[in-house]
Amino acid sequence: MIKVAILGYGTIGSGVYEILTNNQDFIAQEVGQKIEVKYILDLREFPGSPIEKLLVHDYQVIVQDPEVDVVIEAMGGEHPAYDFVKAALLAGKSVTTSNKAVVAAFGSELLEIAKSKQVHFQFEASVGGGIPIIRPLNSSLTAGPIREIAGILNGTTNYILTKMAKEGKTYEDALKQAQALGYAERDPSADVDGFDTCRKIAILASLATRRFVDYKDVDTKGIRSITDCDIALSAKLGYAIKLFGSCQIKPEGTAVCVRPVVIDQTHPLYAVNDVYNGFLVRSDVTDDLMFYGSGAGKLPTASAVVADIVEIAKNPNKTVMMGWSSQKLELLDQEMESLSYFVRLSGICTQDELEAFGAKDFVTREGVPGCALISKPMTKSQLQQCLDKVDNVCQTLALVQ
Ligand code: HSE
Repeated sequence: MIKVAILGYGTIGSGVYEILTNNQDFIAQEVGQKIEVKYILDLREFPGSPIEKLLVHDYQVIVQDPEVDVVIEAMGGEHPAYDFVKAALLAGKSVTTSNKAVVAAFGSELLEIAKSKQVHFQFEASVGGGIPIIRPLNSSLTAGPIREIAGILNGTTNYILTKMAKEGKTYEDALKQAQALGYAERDPSADVDGFDTCRKIAILASLATRRFVDYKDVDTKGIRSITDCDIALSAKLGYAIKLFGSCQIKPEGTAVCVRPVVIDQTHPLYAVNDVYNGFLVRSDVTDDLMFYGSGAGKLPTASAVVADIVEIAKNPNKTVMMGWSSQKLELLDQEMESLSYFVRLSGICTQDELEAFGAKDFVTREGVPGCALISKPMTKSQLQQCLDKVDNVCQTLALVQ
């Protein structure tokens, strides 16, 4: 019998309890022994609920109980989640967490403690909800270096952009709907300003490079500036707007960024819509790999947590997560990257403006003010030179192939 404690009975914590209870026999067959929830830590009371008897309000009860083998952290936020995870590992308990804030900020230290204590620190649910991506990067894709990860890593913003594009919803209405469906973070800024994607791509970049990529170093831009006009004119040109987390690993260094981009129908992530997430992973030996699925939501995310518990239970007294070293990776400046840009202007484009951007043509759309064009490939500083010459530019978005 493996005994576990769940920290936090919110969306993910209650999902983990539900799966462990409803699929108890299935999971016991997989693991070879039963998994029992001994405690649930939450500040609230749940009178009359089946979890009432499992509830504790003092973490010390859990960390000091030698019967607890695995601690499941589903509280969210950095503190006290980090302090609780660290205390559990130091007490010789394995931990699984769905908390990207803790993994991105403290992952290096927690991985080291787990190794030194010969326990597990697992975090499959911290990126991509129900999509397996941490375990593939840690163990399945180890035959050759990873060259690139490009991902739609945030369900809420993908949902918002999809609803704006397909149903003509306003940004505010689409956000409200995403919040009602439980996709959005408590503070929507974490989603719409790209901070959630930033932490997730930093975790994936750390795994891909085996070095610590600090999320604070990742150049991050969210979707707040995207308007109905951008959506309409980019669609007329055949493009979709997506929020991308990108990591490019080149011989000269690694570049990581979060930004809204335009992609055309040939891009493997073009059809990733609604709350779904998708990751494109490129390596020398695998060529392009696609991972696709539910990137948020109660049961998909809880399923990834439970899979961690199963892996922990199957591998007692050893650490299987290689993770990354605590040595920080200095990121490459993307100043020299040469890309075409989607450019939206508030008025109709003049010949001089077309020439400034090296564009062949521009498009307009009935009911949408202004116009849009696709520039010739240019670096960021060349783009800035163009913007200095043309004063009615409302939007620029990189075109990613
Ligand atoms: N708010 C996040 C999202 C939840 O929308 O993707 C999953 O991390």
